[in-house]
Amino acid sequence: MSDSKNISFTPESEALIKNLTKRYPEGKHKSALLPALHIAQAEHDGWLSVPVMDKVAELLNLQPIEVYEVASFYSMYNLKPVGKCLIEVCRTSSCWLRGAEDVVKHIEKRLGIKDGETTADGKYTLKTVECLGSCGTAPMLQIGQTFHENLTLDKVDKILEEWKDATNHSTYLNTDTFRKI
Ligand code: FES
Repeated sequence: MSDSKNISFTPESEALIKNLTKRYPEGKHKSALLPALHIAQAEHDGWLSVPVMDKVAELLNLQPIEVYEVASFYSMYNLKPVGKCLIEVCRTSSCWLRGAEDVVKHIEKRLGIKDGETTADGKYTLKTVECLGSCGTAPMLQIGQTFHENLTLDKVDKILEEWKDATNHSTYLNTDTFRKI
């Protein structure tokens, strides 16, 4: 187990994570792990280091290995640093048939990186992922909470432009999401 003592969450995030466990029956607090990891990731630059995962384990009273197993299974959790703009391009059937490969190649060329890499300035990370459930509007990509659909290469250029001065990391969920539930 790593030293998670140096890891901190805002009091609000810590309270949210603890409250999540109350939604589940006695003994089923592990069910709070997925949203807790989203909160942790959003608060720690868009990725989950071992100490951050250990801190989540501590807050939910789980074994660290239980957290590692889940975090390494789902593609929405990042186990290494990512850019402010995490671009996830769907590469599954519908998107593939409608030009996902061209979209990936275009982004790689524009940013000078390959799938899975981050630009040297820390602005963009490119990741290909499996079906994101928006097959009817293929090809598509996701950045944080936003789906960008019916992509053309021009649209991709505009999206990259929109993110060029971003100061915050894209996130799937934020603490507002949990406050509303
Ligand atoms: S195949 Fe791309 S969203 Fe389903």
